[in-house]
Amino acid sequence: MEKREHFSKLGHVLVAAGSAVGLGNIWKFPTLAGQNGGGIFILFYLFFVLVVGVPLILGESTIGRYAQKGPVDAYHNIAAECGQKGFSLKFWTFLGFTGAFANFIILCYYSVIAGWILQYCIKVLLVPLNEMDMALFGASISSYVTPIVYALVFLAVTIYIDVKGITAGVEKCSKFLMPLLIVLLIVCAVCSLSLPGSIEGVKYMLIPNTNNAVNAGSMGYVALAALGQCFFSLSLGTGQMITLGSYLGKDSKLASQSYGIPAVDTGVALLAGFVTLPAVFAVASVTGIDPTSQTGPGMLMYALPQSLYAAFGSTFGTIIAFLMFLLVCFAALTSTTSMVTVTASYLEEYKHVEHRKATIGIGLGVAVVSVICSLSNTPLLDSITFGGMNIQDSLDWFISNLLMPFGAFFMCVFIGYIWKAQNAIKEITNDGTVKFSWATGFKWIMMVVDPLIILVVFLSGIGILKF
Ligand code: TRP
Repeated sequence: MEKREHFSKLGHVLVAAGSAVGLGNIWKFPTLAGQNGGGIFILFYLFFVLVVGVPLILGESTIGRYAQKGPVDAYHNIAAECGQKGFSLKFWTFLGFTGAFANFIILCYYSVIAGWILQYCIKVLLVPLNEMDMALFGASISSYVTPIVYALVFLAVTIYIDVKGITAGVEKCSKFLMPLLIVLLIVCAVCSLSLPGSIEGVKYMLIPNTNNAVNAGSMGYVALAALGQCFFSLSLGTGQMITLGSYLGKDSKLASQSYGIPAVDTGVALLAGFVTLPAVFAVASVTGIDPTSQTGPGMLMYALPQSLYAAFGSTFGTIIAFLMFLLVCFAALTSTTSMVTVTASYLEEYKHVEHRKATIGIGLGVAVVSVICSLSNTPLLDSITFGGMNIQDSLDWFISNLLMPFGAFFMCVFIGYIWKAQNAIKEITNDGTVKFSWATGFKWIMMVVDPLIILVVFLSGIGILKF
């Protein structure tokens, strides 16, 4: 087996946390929580992080560390080792491939959203904070050229970092930028919470109300949105953690390394929720508009300037808002560079394409699709919809609610029935030398609990099962 360079313990945690914490936490989580009934969505979300997220991070990392390969080779090699042949072997290899594919597609629309944030870094310097409303956001993303330029600039920086192989260097910066982001999120949350009327937003977030879920679609719909978000936010079901695990040394402690990531990731998501939702409710209490009608993708770009303006006035508020958007771009960058790594590792290991070529090729492919995504917010392409969603949102729905649950479901089946849980546990405990207190729980979670949860939530989310 070819030897890999290995991460230090801190290095792995940094890269994994860098991948996990991104737009999913700061932008998507509050948006989805707002649209899916608030407290009820968050309750589902926390449950899924604990029962599905943590075991899956551990499972994926274990596969990666054992095989010392990216997802395609990892599934292929372990399946072959376990005597799988013919169609079965092809299927498991295909599973690894779907992960690489998912990362590619995510990158396409993720760059567009990161481009919006980048655009707002500049916008906060040009537009008075108190004039940054939803209409400005709508106009910013639906113009033809500007959002594309920002998306491509963001993508180019990502590809540059990956081509140069300086992802590790970038992650090192996250050692101080991530804590700074968290501090600023806390400051912004305090500002948002101090607005008169914000308490309604806090109630909306913290009190689970089943009526809200029914209004949002159905309980199943909300549960699937929460599960999809759990996968998306923790970068699961697409081989991301397999790739990262493959850079772990055999003496690393797998179990203890996989608790910190969900903890930080969930903390950041909740904080971002407290930054945005209370501010939106506070402003709505003044204007008299139904606040839930205001919960959409532009929430962050609206709530942040409004609450910072109210708390600090225009000069100091602008500085904080600028810093905040910049740090969110940085968090997005540590996610996109890791998405490129997964897709590139497929091309490099499986198709033997050279690193530079693979990375640039991916960049060009992503650029084309992200232009289409960006245009799907403009009159040119916004009439093309699937289930009421434009191309960009449909891609996100397809990945988060279909492909990721698919990848996660079969990863559990793979560990539970092909590789066998006891072999995974042997790897987790470094041949029985490291303590793993919930080994039996892990076995049942992989074999029964998580496949069942994923299946039931999926079927009810798409309306086949009704509760
Ligand atoms: N988890 C990241 C976020 O919350 C997004 C992300 C990075 C991702 N790598 C991924 C999502 C791989 C799915 C798969 O922003």
